[in-house]
Amino acid sequence: MKKIISVVGARPNFMKIAPLHRAFQNYSDTIKHLICHTGQHYDEKMSKVFFEDLELPQPDFYLGIGSGSHAEQTANVMIQFEKILLEEKPDLIIVVGDVNSTIACSLTASKLHIKVVHVEAGLRSGDRLMPEEINRVLTDSISDLLFVTEKSGMENLKNEGVSDEKVFFTGNVMIDSLAYFKPKVENSNIHKQYNLEFYKYVLVTLHRPSNVDSKEQLIKLIDLLNEIASKRKVLFPIHPRTKKNLADFSLLEKIDSNLILTDPIGYLDFLALTSNAELILTDSGGIQEESTYLGVQCITLRTSTERPITVEIGTNQLLGTDLDKAKVAALEVLGGKIKEGKIPDLWDGKAAERIAAKISNYLS
Ligand code: UD1
Repeated sequence: MKKIISVVGARPNFMKIAPLHRAFQNYSDTIKHLICHTGQHYDEKMSKVFFEDLELPQPDFYLGIGSGSHAEQTANVMIQFEKILLEEKPDLIIVVGDVNSTIACSLTASKLHIKVVHVEAGLRSGDRLMPEEINRVLTDSISDLLFVTEKSGMENLKNEGVSDEKVFFTGNVMIDSLAYFKPKVENSNIHKQYNLEFYKYVLVTLHRPSNVDSKEQLIKLIDLLNEIASKRKVLFPIHPRTKKNLADFSLLEKIDSNLILTDPIGYLDFLALTSNAELILTDSGGIQEESTYLGVQCITLRTSTERPITVEIGTNQLLGTDLDKAKVAALEVLGGKIKEGKIPDLWDGKAAERIAAKISNYLS
């Protein structure tokens, strides 16, 4: 029997591990698949609700790390994860995405000569000021198997000299979750709860430091959202970081009544919201992909994207942090000028099955 430990830490990890966990159940004679939650995200609405929505079992290990500076958070995960690895001696670990838990656990495992698998490898924004970019580059450089979601990832890894035998283009596990749970979202009553009409509202998510940590940028963002709210209802589920900054900068009172701020929303309700939005405004990584898959218009308020396929063939527009540009584009979409999109190759709901098959082969 081989033992695998998959790592989850922050909100965008849960939907990537869920389909892998399901896929490994088909190998239960030969592979024991365990889950370790580092506790990087710990609020009920940032973590627990996802386990329930995604039908994930309780994690086998919980490290309870919580918040801190980058160094503190990363180091604390490493110290606690090393203990688990020494005790459990897994044959390999799986890490997903680009959060601090991803690099912390891959680094810990590789120093103990435990194989590391990176799912969603090869993505590059080219912006080393983003902590996620550092996490991506470093994790890829110490991974033994790298599973890639889009062709830019294959090219990036080739350019960085990663040998071809380690790299596989297998599709997108986050889209596996989306495809699997999409039929279930009909049960969601989130639209009723906020009195939203299908395809007649704008959904907003913003949490990157570049958008929400400076008072000046946050004021401009609220002005933009208020302006959009004069045309459509706007729903803005806020990340704890954004909420804290809005309060600290006394900006909560500037918010228009048509701009609805909510706590973070669980996976199924959020999927119901993305599926039926007229427009999404975001700085998230994953939402660029989800909107492309769903064919929903998306404006990304960032200067770079590590997911260029969503701009090349999808419905995503990358507009930088110049909010005047974003305003023009948003009003155009609301006026009916939409960007047609296609679904990228292998975003077909079966990526986790392909990955589990490759890993099973690798271990046998
Ligand atoms: C992390 C990821 C980011 C991902 C995001 C999704 C890194 C470097 N960043 O950023 O890639 O897009 O998650 O949400 O790993 N907080 C809470 N409750 C929680 C979690 C966080 O209140 O459950 C607050 C804390 O004040 C904390 C802050 O949010 O200091 C930031 O959390 P952290 O995990 O450091 O990074 P995120 O900004 O969430």
